[in-house]
Amino acid sequence: MTLIDPDTVLKTDNSQIDSSHAEFTQLLNQMSAANNLEFAKLFAELLTHTEQHFQEENRLMEQSGFPAQTEHKAEHQRILGELTQFKKRLDKGLVAFARAYATEKLPAWFTLHLSTADSALVEHLIRALKSKDSVT
Ligand SMILES: [Fe+2]
Ligand SMILES: [Fe+2]
Repeated sequence: MTLIDPDTVLKTDNSQIDSSHAEFTQLLNQMSAANNLEFAKLFAELLTHTEQHFQEENRLMEQSGFPAQTEHKAEHQRILGELTQFKKRLDKGLVAFARAYATEKLPAWFTLHLSTADSALVEHLIRALKSKDSVT
């Protein structure tokens, strides 16, 4: 089952962010069809991927002085907290909780986060780059 159709994932005009989002989408879709053993492995990969993905966006926000970085970073932290909690349950063999989270919550969160927080960040990055170009 495809949880997120890759063709419908919003492109942001930032290739680095877009490739991160493509990887997230791919992992989530693989998880939906995985057996319990594979699922646990993919969930761990998703957590590692997401830590890096958020770290990179946080760095871009700091570098460019993104005005809404407090809210955006807090949202990243909230999701990382949830992923970490479900990973702990998975490590105890409780697969159903993490599966429900991955299939019922994460796709909708991801789609919304892309069209709001991440889109606003990329718009800001493009504006910041343009104003830098016009100064130099
Ligand atoms: Fe993102
Ligand atoms: Fe983000």
